[in-house]
Amino acid sequence: MRAYVLLVASVAALGGLLFGYDTGVISGAILFISKDFGLATRLQAFTISVVLIGCMAGAASAGAVADRIGRRLTLLVAGLIFLAGALISAFTPDENVLLAGRFVVGIGIGFSSVVAPLYISEVAPAEVRGALVSLYQFAITVGILAAYAVDFAFSAGGQWRWMLGLAVIPSLVLVGGMLVMPESPRYLFKIGNATRARDELARIYADSSESGREEQSIVESLSTKSAGWEALREPSIRLALFIGISLAVLQQITGINTVIYYGPQIFEMAGFTSDSASILAQTLVGAVNCGMTLIAIFFVDRIGRKPLLYIGLAGMFVALAALATAFTQVRLTGSLGPIALGSMMVYVGCFAFSLGPIVWLLISEIFPLRVRGMGMSLSTLANWVGNFAVSQFFLTMVEKLGRSATFWIYASLCIVTIVFVRAMVPETKRELLETIRVDAGGRDAAGA
Ligand code: BGC
Repeated sequence: MRAYVLLVASVAALGGLLFGYDTGVISGAILFISKDFGLATRLQAFTISVVLIGCMAGAASAGAVADRIGRRLTLLVAGLIFLAGALISAFTPDENVLLAGRFVVGIGIGFSSVVAPLYISEVAPAEVRGALVSLYQFAITVGILAAYAVDFAFSAGGQWRWMLGLAVIPSLVLVGGMLVMPESPRYLFKIGNATRARDELARIYADSSESGREEQSIVESLSTKSAGWEALREPSIRLALFIGISLAVLQQITGINTVIYYGPQIFEMAGFTSDSASILAQTLVGAVNCGMTLIAIFFVDRIGRKPLLYIGLAGMFVALAALATAFTQVRLTGSLGPIALGSMMVYVGCFAFSLGPIVWLLISEIFPLRVRGMGMSLSTLANWVGNFAVSQFFLTMVEKLGRSATFWIYASLCIVTIVFVRAMVPETKRELLETIRVDAGGRDAAGA
């Protein structure tokens, strides 16, 4: 792979780092914010969830912005929004301004969760596209882990302003980086700037016959048919949208963020008595999440998207079923405590090389260029709605249905996801973006 492409993808992946950091950091910071501002429980919960509302707003608008001003500038704007949000939150005089700051941060996350994978998949050569978009997921997990570490480091002094404010550093790097990064060649063709687009393709591919082949397929894909909302009349676009939205929602409703956001509470349910043991276990979860993403980076272009999804989802199912079974006991005595902890690690580890990266990858692949911005925006919006719903209702579900039933629900949704992937999702490994098609048989028309 050319170092140039890796550099471009890495800078864009900083959007993922900020996504992970800014969603993870609040779990530790909220303890001290609540004390300083004397927040009641409801306001506390809102301070946590307002960021997700911002994410929805950002994701809903990002596709249209990326189609209008380009992928590169949209990511640059995302960096500026992250910067503003971090500064407002860190210097806030009161809880209302803090809410505004966190909402702004959410818009940044929403923007980057649409445009970073979109941009990376559009600059990546087909043979390494999976690895490069998985790098984005890797950056999300590094961000989450960094957030846990920063929270831990500043917790002794309760310095929550530092926790929220440190996001300024990656934001500045993202803004600086995007100033010098190239525009996506696909976007350049889309807006009719073929000369610059060809230059970009030549920088991506060492071999001119490859870039020629790619150019031809991009131009062909743009030459016919409608774009924008009008395209929704085409059955294949509606099908792609159905697949994208479903995958995005399934990524969330199989429960990942119960562990990412509520890990310490779940550890307490599993019998951990001290806060520090729970926080340590949570850091371990963060490290497993990060480390296991590397498996996707190495294998997603070799063995393909669907096999990794099957293996990962099967592992998630087994782990959740074990957790649900352990939770049928009122107290997790003897070996049940370690089994519950181990199951959570296996669950997160399996997500990290399958549903985590591959959903972002697939939704950046399955839409034709003329509707890619819109398709990704809607799918990503659905992802944030799913995220919001799960994180809002998790504790209530545990209270009303019980711990065991709650985890059985997530486990069965893993099976639903396997069936869905088998029936509907195309294998996109090493396909040129423009030749990827969806059809109801779950095969790509070009390869089938
Ligand atoms: C998901 C996030 C999740 C993260 C965990 C991402 O792919 O979209 O909701 O928190 O993975 O690593």
